[in-house]
Amino acid sequence: MVSRTSFLLFYFIIIIIALIMPEGHARHHHHHHRHSYPASQISAPPEASPPAAPPSSEGDDWRVYDVRMFGAIGDGATDDTDAFMNAWENACQIDSGVLLVPYGYTFMIQSTIFTGPCQNGLVFKVDGTIMPPEGPEVWPTDYSRRQWLVFYRINEMALRGHGLIDGRGQPWWDLPCKPHKARYGRIVREPCDSPVAIRFFMSNNIRVEGIRVKNSPQFHFRFDGCQNVHIQSIYITAPPLSPNTDGIHIENTNNVEIYNSVISNGDDCVSIGSGCYDVDIRNITCGPSHGISIGSLGKHNSRACASNITVRDSVIKNSDNGVRIKTWQGGSGAVSGVTFRKIHMENVRNPIIIDQFYCLTKDCSNGTSAVQVSDIEYSDIKGTYDIRSPPVRLACSDAVPCTNITIGDVELLPSRGALVLDPFCWNAYGEMRALTIPPIACLLQGFPRSVLENDVGIC
Ligand SMILES: *[C@@H]1O[C@H](CO)[C@@H](O)[C@H](O)[C@H]1NC(C)=O
Ligand SMILES: *[C@@H]1O[C@H](CO)[C@@H](O)[C@H](O)[C@H]1NC(C)=O
Ligand SMILES: *[C@@H]1O[C@H](CO)[C@@H](O)[C@H](O)[C@H]1NC(C)=O
Ligand SMILES: *[C@@H]1O[C@H](CO)[C@@H](O)[C@H](O)[C@H]1NC(C)=O
Repeated sequence: MVSRTSFLLFYFIIIIIALIMPEGHARHHHHHHRHSYPASQISAPPEASPPAAPPSSEGDDWRVYDVRMFGAIGDGATDDTDAFMNAWENACQIDSGVLLVPYGYTFMIQSTIFTGPCQNGLVFKVDGTIMPPEGPEVWPTDYSRRQWLVFYRINEMALRGHGLIDGRGQPWWDLPCKPHKARYGRIVREPCDSPVAIRFFMSNNIRVEGIRVKNSPQFHFRFDGCQNVHIQSIYITAPPLSPNTDGIHIENTNNVEIYNSVISNGDDCVSIGSGCYDVDIRNITCGPSHGISIGSLGKHNSRACASNITVRDSVIKNSDNGVRIKTWQGGSGAVSGVTFRKIHMENVRNPIIIDQFYCLTKDCSNGTSAVQVSDIEYSDIKGTYDIRSPPVRLACSDAVPCTNITIGDVELLPSRGALVLDPFCWNAYGEMRALTIPPIACLLQGFPRSVLENDVGIC
């Protein structure tokens, strides 16, 4: 009832505005009138009545704004950005509006910011394919090179459908400045920005469901400054050597659920940055990838906090890392309350790793502070590892040791070759709950005094 009343009031105000605005401004609001609410019958002048809505492919549901209604062509070559923007403005303004990207078409759209707030129940339904212009050469210079599809200040939205978002990343990965190109010669220093495919920024109550996303030039998803994010049944694919193509990256985002999804790519499967808490990841399959990563945190001596993160019932295969926590030397803050449970590893280098010496060059100096790592649980972590790295590596900083690491039920065997009977621990305090393969005898008991006396772990 409340929303209907405010809805009518909203229309009434729009009409008043339409009456007092010059013609050019009023036209912008025409779509509001087409569903002939009682209020519009009272006062709308005949000239203000809108063109009839083109038929939509979702039956006669007037809430569905098919981008073709706004002139999108969908031939994979025409620039359909304006049609998407118009469809967005309309769908955004009604309750339970649907922007439909229809099946059977491929739409090319430029870097675009879809801005809210919108009415509740908004759906961005991708049944067809969406692509950006192909590569940096044809990317218009006045559009951002750091992001492609951006959803900004959305209060509630579902991105769903059976369609495909194709980032066409190859020409970006081939830029001579990309890290993996270094091995063919010198690293070329030049601006190396590449767009994130889908970014949610300062948005809440977001669901992403069913869609496929492939070959992003950079991260596939980035959530930043968001709350209540539910991701389920999505597929992300990019080649194993594609640089920086993280599957889902979150930062400053809380209350996140990532369920039942399959990710294979060239970098982290899921990466969790600073400012994330209450994160639940379940039943995801990663690989090939770089595994699930918390961090890197504490870069440039920053304060970083991440807590209450659970990863369970998942599979990680053919990956550089399994479950990783990585922090830079220096910095402050804490990673705490992290549970990795029931994770199956297949041919993974570093299945279990804490690396507090994360560094991209050879000459990072050891800091006198660190992001503290505490209350970390590993249980039921089974499967196989690649013997090029030890299966368990807990490298904690000298300044702030890791505390309360609990290890139970770990069974890791080489996928090929001889057992590596040499788990590595450095300044790692905690407790063994069960016998493990390989045996882990290097955890330190108790609680280090330096941590008690230090206040770096404050968040
Ligand atoms: C786990 O995720 C996969 C892939 O989405 C799905 O097919 C399967 O049904 C899920 N399992 C459970 C128990 O939900
Ligand atoms: C941890 O996060 C979960 C959601 O993932 C939430 O239900 C739970 O209450 C949180 N626990 C604490 C102690 O905040
Ligand atoms: C930093 O500390 C670690 C562990 O004490 C040590 O192995 C490493 O050599 C140190 N690095 C530098 C650059 O001092
Ligand atoms: C150790 O960490 C676990 C979570 O892994 C937590 O439940 C427990 O309370 C912590 N113990 C202490 C003494 O902080």
